[in-house]
Amino acid sequence: MRNQVVLYKKLSPALMHRLQEQADVTFIDEPNRDGLARLRAALPHAHGVLGASIKLDADLLDLAPHLKAVSSVSVGIDNYDVEYFNRRGILLTNTPDVLTETTADTGFALILATARRVVELANLVRSGQWTSNLGPDHFGSDVHGKTLGIIGMGRIGEALAQRGHFGFGMPVIYHSHSPKPAVEARFNAGYRSLEGVLKEADFICLTLPLTAETEGLIGTEQFGLMRSQSIFINISRGKVVNEKALITALQNNQIRAAGLDVFEREPLDPDSPLLRLNNVVATPHMGSATHETREAMAQCAVENLISALAGDRPANLVNPEVWRK
Ligand code: DGY
Repeated sequence: MRNQVVLYKKLSPALMHRLQEQADVTFIDEPNRDGLARLRAALPHAHGVLGASIKLDADLLDLAPHLKAVSSVSVGIDNYDVEYFNRRGILLTNTPDVLTETTADTGFALILATARRVVELANLVRSGQWTSNLGPDHFGSDVHGKTLGIIGMGRIGEALAQRGHFGFGMPVIYHSHSPKPAVEARFNAGYRSLEGVLKEADFICLTLPLTAETEGLIGTEQFGLMRSQSIFINISRGKVVNEKALITALQNNQIRAAGLDVFEREPLDPDSPLLRLNNVVATPHMGSATHETREAMAQCAVENLISALAGDRPANLVNPEVWRK
């Protein structure tokens, strides 16, 4: 019998063809909205699931008694309860590596956009308000030579450090679970406590995953440690930050600006106070959103699922304990 796959992320024709060679595929469009009922109806037949951006919780997965593998088109796995997967013996895979450089590019885009007030000043031109040479009211701050603080020195943190150190001559400081001597040697980076990074860095960039440990990590107390010139960048997950505390810190000029690609709730409410602040650059969770990278992620996810359903160990297995069993 052929494997049945429920797909809720659109694939390019080439990848769809590749998947259909190996399995019967049911495609569900808009699983967050109109597609939810169709997703629920398809799950009872599924051996494999491939998609991203929705919470696949027990309520949904209990509908899928034959499920062997879920392949997420993302590096983040916060939409999945890994303990549940382990209990049920379901393999979970993700797509690390292929998005590292692109996501770091997004981080740097936010660093430059906030420091140099790119969006605000471009809007000035667009709205016909550029009527004389810019004065100090519209000046930004330098990026080159400033201290880059990275919280979470994983792959994306390293790619950010590389850009800062080699491209912009920035001293790099970082905080992670433990010091990373190879990173320190490569980027002349200094390990600090979390508080140390918050107090010292000009740019404070979050690149860590959302876990029970990191949820709400940055709140009122942490914003209180930052300097009034600090710029806060979040390309990890919105829930790592207490958004209310961030808004208060921005409104009270406790920090200079924020570049945010992720939010507590996505899509961001158009009425969010964040969108009324000129010193906020808000982007729509576009960290990995380039043609090349999204195709590479989808390809990685397809190959992960094909391997898992064929009984081979997938390249990017999140829960190897299930494999060992
Ligand atoms: C990821 O891959 O985790 C990105 O944030 C997209 O969700």
